[in-house]
Amino acid sequence: PVLILLGPPGAGKGTQARMLEEKFGMVQLSTGDLLRAAVKAGTEAGRQAKAVMDAGGLVSDDIVIAILRDRLDAPDTLQGVILDGFPRNTPQAEALDLLLAEREQKIDAAISLEVDDAEMVTRISGRYTCAECGEGYHDQFKIPQKPGVCDACGGTDMTRRADDNAETVGSRLQAYHEQTAPLARYYRARGALHCIPAMDGIDDVAARLHAIVTSTR
Ligand code: AP5
Ligand code: ZN
Repeated sequence: PVLILLGPPGAGKGTQARMLEEKFGMVQLSTGDLLRAAVKAGTEAGRQAKAVMDAGGLVSDDIVIAILRDRLDAPDTLQGVILDGFPRNTPQAEALDLLLAEREQKIDAAISLEVDDAEMVTRISGRYTCAECGEGYHDQFKIPQKPGVCDACGGTDMTRRADDNAETVGSRLQAYHEQTAPLARYYRARGALHCIPAMDGIDDVAARLHAIVTSTR
């Protein structure tokens, strides 16, 4: 199956995608993670993406679609994919429909995590990640059992993202409302949209999500 996680920055898309991977054996495809990897690797696409990401805007559709297309063709995606952070505007949604049609696949559900703007800022400003395995944490909402030590891999190198600062968050939120939020209508028209309240704790949101995923399998 192909699932899309929609929702503003900080809504919990990455957190929930990782939980779905573990539970259902699907693969998380995060364009944000793929772009950060390209930046780190110093590729031409990464170089172009960096300035845009630091400013909180959307990277060009050409770059993002090319990165996603390559990743979709990797053999580990056969059990199903969870798209996290893609599509982010109507041209990307149309490109995705084409990419999937070429592979004789279709979207099973587009799930929108509904969070208000204030909660998003709180979640983003407290976020940090294990540099070794990518597990996400939060100063208030998800604290590792031993401070500074990753529950998942035991790593001790925790990092914060360059774009998780007050100025950039405002631009990311604006990009979301102007370009990404209208996708709800796109998927509603195709009968694929599910909206779930995502202001509650991580496990409550996960339970709602699992119910939808189970019903689409
Ligand atoms: P991207 O990496 O996709 O970032 P984002 O959309 O801003 O989303 P986040 O990763 O910030 O949030 P999330 O929803 O995954 O939340 P998380 O689970 O971490 O994109 C970054 C940039 O790349 C973009 O700005 C753009 O420039 C570029 N880009 C990416 N894709 C693109 C595309 N398709 N086109 C063009 N440009 C693109 O949770 C946040 C925190 O809250 C964590 O600390 C977590 O522990 C905590 N938390 C999660 N759920 C809960 C809960 N229920 N209760 C309490 N705390 C919670
Ligand atoms: Zn780790």
